[in-house]
Amino acid sequence: MHAKAIRAHNPPVVVDPHDGLAHRALDLGLHFKARPEIFGRRSTAGEIRDLLVTDLPIEPMAGEAVLADFVDRVLPLCKYEASPRFMGFGDTGDDQLALAGSVLATLTQQNMINQSFDSPSATFIEITVLRWLRELLGYVNPMVGNVNTVWDVGGIITPGGTTSNTVAMMLAREAKAPGTMHSGVADPSRFAVVVPRGVGHYSVKAALTWIGCGAHVIEVATDGFRYNTDELVRTLREHGDRVMAVVAYAGDSRTQTVDDLRAVHDLVRAIDPTIWLHADACWGLLAAFSPNLRDKIDGIAGFESITVDPHKIMAVPYGLSALLVRDPAALRTISTYSGGCR
Ligand SMILES: Cc1ncc(COP(=O)(O)O)c(C=O)c1O
Repeated sequence: MHAKAIRAHNPPVVVDPHDGLAHRALDLGLHFKARPEIFGRRSTAGEIRDLLVTDLPIEPMAGEAVLADFVDRVLPLCKYEASPRFMGFGDTGDDQLALAGSVLATLTQQNMINQSFDSPSATFIEITVLRWLRELLGYVNPMVGNVNTVWDVGGIITPGGTTSNTVAMMLAREAKAPGTMHSGVADPSRFAVVVPRGVGHYSVKAALTWIGCGAHVIEVATDGFRYNTDELVRTLREHGDRVMAVVAYAGDSRTQTVDDLRAVHDLVRAIDPTIWLHADACWGLLAAFSPNLRDKIDGIAGFESITVDPHKIMAVPYGLSALLVRDPAALRTISTYSGGCR
């Protein structure tokens, strides 16, 4: 049945803004965010499995009962990462304004499939976020009046740093062997990626396997969690044309060390200017907001691509990463079109 005909048979339920259920759900969430404890209750994985993993219910459940069931069985076991007693991760998601934005994004539910018909304003908000992130890191933006297509933006939003790094590796692959997107990888050994040993995040190796390049990761020795630059030079000379990209970390996951990005940039460029330089600044984006820390990421704007993770360092409560590219048009090389297929 056609979608419109289905709707005629099942008219959409209009949300009543005075219905208490949504308000109570919001209150529950806000009280959760205000509690001091990390955990409400602890149980073993087996106990939680037996409590929560069920078969499809035979009887339907009313909204009130679903909420009560959530409060009873699920909520006490939820972990609160923004608790002042927890220091494990940065992804706390407790910025008030970001929480408000998240609620409004859920309720307004703009369909980002296209600007003209489905998201008249949201598309431009997304572009603005990408432009702000670019500007923070020193990438040059086109004038607003020259932003006419997606190719004029210079970045994409993704659900996480892993996906952003994967997109970066796809870009590196296309830069190294244009058209691989369509023809497939011919000689995987030409797509090796250099990372600092013990610092490189697993997402780069995973990305290379996902995009068909094979797990050709070359690890270079480090000093104080930064590239040993002599070793980096030696490695690049030794592997020559095999190297597709060099990845440097602006804030590694464990120590938060920021590499000497300018030095890495300059020496890679001097040896082979065609190597794709990618900066993983999932954590290092933080430095861009502080006049005192800004010099730590000096040189980052010389890299071809940068991953940033606002969900790690900006306390936003939803998954939000971005892959930014120095040359906005580079994203054309990894695009596909829906024309002809349904
Ligand atoms: C340096 C670095 N890169 C990439 C990632 C992957 O990010 P995400 O978990 O958002 O996919 C992480 C996550 O911890 C990270 O620390």
